Amino acid sequence: MNRVDPPQRVLLGPGPSDVAPSVLRALGAPTLGHLDPKTLEIMGELATALRAIFETQNPWTLAISGTGTSGMEATLVNLIEPGDRVLVAVHGYFGARLADIAKRVGGDVTVVEQEWGRPSDPAQLRAAAAGRKFKVLAAVHAETSTGVRQELAPLAALADELGALFVADAVTSLGCLPVGVDRARVDAVYSCSQKGLSCTSGLSPVTFSPRAVDAIKRRKQPVSSFYLDVPLLERYWHGDHLYHHTACSNLFAALHEATRLVLEEGLEARFARHARLSKALVAGLEALGLELLVPASDRLPQLLAVKIPDGVDDVKVRKALLEQYSIEIGGGLGPFKGKLWRIGLMGSGATPRNVLLALSALAAVLATSGFRARGEPIAAAGAALAS
Ligand SMILES: Cc1ncc(COP(=O)(O)O)c(C=O)c1O
Repeated sequence: MNRVDPPQRVLLGPGPSDVAPSVLRALGAPTLGHLDPKTLEIMGELATALRAIFETQNPWTLAISGTGTSGMEATLVNLIEPGDRVLVAVHGYFGARLADIAKRVGGDVTVVEQEWGRPSDPAQLRAAAAGRKFKVLAAVHAETSTGVRQELAPLAALADELGALFVADAVTSLGCLPVGVDRARVDAVYSCSQKGLSCTSGLSPVTFSPRAVDAIKRRKQPVSSFYLDVPLLERYWHGDHLYHHTACSNLFAALHEATRLVLEEGLEARFARHARLSKALVAGLEALGLELLVPASDRLPQLLAVKIPDGVDDVKVRKALLEQYSIEIGGGLGPFKGKLWRIGLMGSGATPRNVLLALSALAAVLATSGFRARGEPIAAAGAALAS
């Protein structure tokens, strides 16, 4: 068996994003026991940092051992009891996954589909609710399959009308866009470690409002998942630290360092950096002659969905970017397979250098695919960066 030697990539896809050297060093620090006082101290500080980044006072804020999907599943399996009515806004692949899991945990699910590439419409959701009360209203804040941003506050207002708890997926938004959990009045939010927070994958930050905690405490039946039972996890994190599972101290140390970097930069500065670099990348892509799926008003800065021009082979281009330039970008999901590229500028990967690198490599690969660039992408991005 040979020693593995993973190559150095530039991760400009929908996630994971580039991991800062100090986060990788934290990951490589000595392993501690999951009940070691130092591990518990790291977890306490990590929870405080996550509250600051979620912009919440919620005591029930922790990181689940697992990827973003574990946070999605934990949120739904704790809030939904069999037969509970759940309204899910679906405008992409991850909204559909939310609806799928809500059904698997026994919810009586009403799905409201919106055309992929546009945000869900609160009026359409209200009409589908047809005056009925719901236990949960769930939506994706940053839909990674299309690059669409969903406004949270109007959905929180709708949840109030429906008597529902409002659940938001912030897997692709946390650390890139304001989630503002308390301000937007979201009751349960889950995210991931590997995108806007620029850690490796493996942890899913979650937060539950006092209303959500109350609903969990008033459940008629125990949570059907032991591993994702949030009251048990809360007890391990913030209570008497009773053993629940052998959590990974290295991941906690790495996410501790990643969140420290986020707070050192400052949330406002971080959001402004993502917005500024995204504008430069858009300027360059448009100068190349490429078209974006989502209009500027609904577009995520940190993830751009780019239409693949006619006659250009999706897989050949992504393979050339990876093999010749060591750059990863994403392909399309579901109906957009072969039709979209997804270019991410997230967390520590959102740098002026990566904007120019992505544009120059894409221009070079497209030129060999017979695509004629309309203008000068580097000059256009440079001008946007300078403005
Ligand atoms: C919006 C959204 N939700 C959920 C997930 C699932 O996260 P994971 O792949 O980390 O399990 C993803 C993954 O990209 C996502 O983009």
